[in-house]
Amino acid sequence: MALETDGKAASASAPALRVSIVLPTYNERYNIEPLLAKLLLLKQHVDLEILVVDDDSADGTAELVRQLAHHEPSLRLIRRVGRAGLASAIKEGLLDATGDVAVVMDSDGQHEPASVLRAIETLQQQELDLVIGSRFHAQAEILGLSGRREQGSSWANRCARFSLSRAYDSLTDYMSGFFALRLDEAIPLLRAVDVNGFKFLYELLAVSKGRLRVAEIPLSFQPRIHGRSKLDLAIVWDFLISILHSLSFRILPRRAISFGLVGSTGVLVQVLLCQLLTGLGGINFERALPFAVVAAATSNYLINNVLTFRFARLRGFALLRGLLKFLLVSSLPALANVGLAIAFYENVARDSLWAQLAGIIVVFVWNYAASSRFVWNTP
Ligand code: GDD
Ligand code: MN
Repeated sequence: MALETDGKAASASAPALRVSIVLPTYNERYNIEPLLAKLLLLKQHVDLEILVVDDDSADGTAELVRQLAHHEPSLRLIRRVGRAGLASAIKEGLLDATGDVAVVMDSDGQHEPASVLRAIETLQQQELDLVIGSRFHAQAEILGLSGRREQGSSWANRCARFSLSRAYDSLTDYMSGFFALRLDEAIPLLRAVDVNGFKFLYELLAVSKGRLRVAEIPLSFQPRIHGRSKLDLAIVWDFLISILHSLSFRILPRRAISFGLVGSTGVLVQVLLCQLLTGLGGINFERALPFAVVAAATSNYLINNVLTFRFARLRGFALLRGLLKFLLVSSLPALANVGLAIAFYENVARDSLWAQLAGIIVVFVWNYAASSRFVWNTP
């Protein structure tokens, strides 16, 4: 299979390399058309397929792509109802792609079409499985990231490096939205990629456990043309969970990790509030404690609702009813906690720290299982 970079169409003797470009879109109507026009020029070099994976954009992105596809056989639209997220869109596009090689890139103009050929050439010439377009490569250029985002990404990169196989230590951008890969090799891994959140590439590197032959090319990261970034706090949270999930050898369920982290913020809320009420408020401990416990449980509930269980997020009246159920569900184990810790102390080991830990673990498992089932109605 040949990659024709001298401007001629691929010759008949060596069939052209088939390349699938996967473009996830969410409200990119004004960015996608100019991008497609540039990408379609690649037909001069490769046997091209472009898959646009749209998550039911409200701005008519899918309708526009559908129109364009009438005149453009290389263009395919995958339209999904409900927003399942960036990583999930990438996975779906890659699993449907028919190319020898696939390239994933952002559709808002932040990734340059010129990087596509460069990535494919590197993949072919160096016989790699994966080529990452890096924003943090020594020769890269960042025009489209705020200082804060750049700093955040640099931290995230460090955490990512730490949690992944040492074989990937030399990489510089574990969260890039631009990468090229060989599909035959990647399909079994793609199936295993967990699609929570934004970070498809990080997950791919995690499930591959150091087995992929990878290299990076520098990107020139452009400012977004129209519209706004879809990265928000919930997506950053998902990423934190992904890192902890990798560090736990992917044994603990992600949702349980999220629930546990939220629970630890509840401990802080309770202790701080109790201090505040007794110290500044002059209220005695016995009266302050129940108040602080209920406040901590309420804060846990609200945070879990927007982070851990946001796919089943409760609103309006259901939010209030959910709170009552949550308080009920978590009050049982609070009592059990005390009983358990005492039983442990008396029968298993006269060690108050272990006794309390045993109580906390049982409460955690109960709270997680019971609230998943009864508050947010998930399995
Ligand atoms: N189908 C689908 N569904 N596409 C989505 C979704 C979604 O839920 N969310 C975002 N996208 C698409 C956008 O339309 C865009 O083409 C691309 O994914 C990137 O989204 P942006 O919202 O522009 O992300 P960003 O520029 O803030 O984030 C950049 O850096 C991240 C790492 O820090 C991108 O390069 C990301 O790909 C990268 O992971
Ligand atoms: Mn962007």
